[in-house]
Amino acid sequence: MILIKTADEIELIRQSNLLVSKTLAELAKHIKPGVSTGRLDQIAETFIRDHGAVPGFLKYQGYPKTLCTSVNSEVVHGIPSEKVILEEGDLLSVDCGVIMDGFYGDTAFSFEVGAMGEKVRSLLTTTRECLRKGIEQAVDGKRVGDVGFAVQEHAERHGYSVVREMVGHGLGRDLHEAPEVPNYGRRGTGPKLKKGMVICIEPMINMGRRQIKQDPDGWTIRAADNLPSAHFELAVAIDKRKADVLSTFEYIDEVLQKQSN
Ligand code: MF3
Ligand code: CO
Ligand code: CO
Repeated sequence: MILIKTADEIELIRQSNLLVSKTLAELAKHIKPGVSTGRLDQIAETFIRDHGAVPGFLKYQGYPKTLCTSVNSEVVHGIPSEKVILEEGDLLSVDCGVIMDGFYGDTAFSFEVGAMGEKVRSLLTTTRECLRKGIEQAVDGKRVGDVGFAVQEHAERHGYSVVREMVGHGLGRDLHEAPEVPNYGRRGTGPKLKKGMVICIEPMINMGRRQIKQDPDGWTIRAADNLPSAHFELAVAIDKRKADVLSTFEYIDEVLQKQSN
C-alpha cells in the first residue's frame, strides 16, 4: 500500500530532509584529500544529534554507521572507516539519513575530491541530470515507470548504464516504504503517482557496465567492472503540476562555490 501523507506530515518530512541536506553541506566543507570517511561519519553524527535528530541509517538492518560513503567504483553502502583516506581525484558519494519527529530524511550527493578528471566529472553531471529528469516526471497522474524511463533514457544516451538491483522508494515513518522506484522502466507502467505520496528518487549510474557485486563486508556494493559509479538522491512529494522537492542541494552548492572562488 502506498501511503498518502497529510500536508502536516509532508512538512515534517521536509524538515528531516532539510537537516540531511545541511549535514551534507557541513560535510562538503571537510571533503578533501587526506580526510578519512570515518572522520566524515563522526562529523555527520555530531551535526545530526546537535540538531535534535538521530542518524537514520545507524543500526538500520544492522548497518554500523551514520553515512554510506562510496568511493569510485563503489556504487552504494560503502562503510565509513578511519582506514579509507580520500585522495585527489576520487569520486565520493555520500548518502545520509536522519529520523526527526518520527519521520525519515534520506538524501545523497556525489562529490569530487580535489580536482577530478573530465570523464568522471561528466558522470557526476549526467547522474545529477538523470535525477532532475526523474523528478520532472514525479507528478500526480504519472506512473513510476515514467520516472524510471526518464532516468534510464538520459543515462544511456550518454553511454552510461543504470544499476537495476537497487531502487528508490517511498519515504515517511519508515526509511523504505512502497512503492519501489526503479531507475529504469517503460513509460505508462507501474503504480500511479498521486498527490501526497512521498518518494526518494536515487539514480545509481555506472560509467561501464551495469552489473554489480558485493564486497565481503556484506554491505558495500561495487561496479563489477570496477569502473566509477555515481549516486544522487532527493526526496519529493508528489503534487499536481510539479513535484515538491523536500531535500535540496542548494546548501552543498553554496559551500562548493565558495571553495572554487
Ligand atoms: N540510503 C539508502 C537509500 O537511499 C539506504 C541505506 S540503508 C543502510 O535507500 F542501512 F545501508 F544504511
Ligand atoms: Co539514501
Ligand atoms: Co533512499
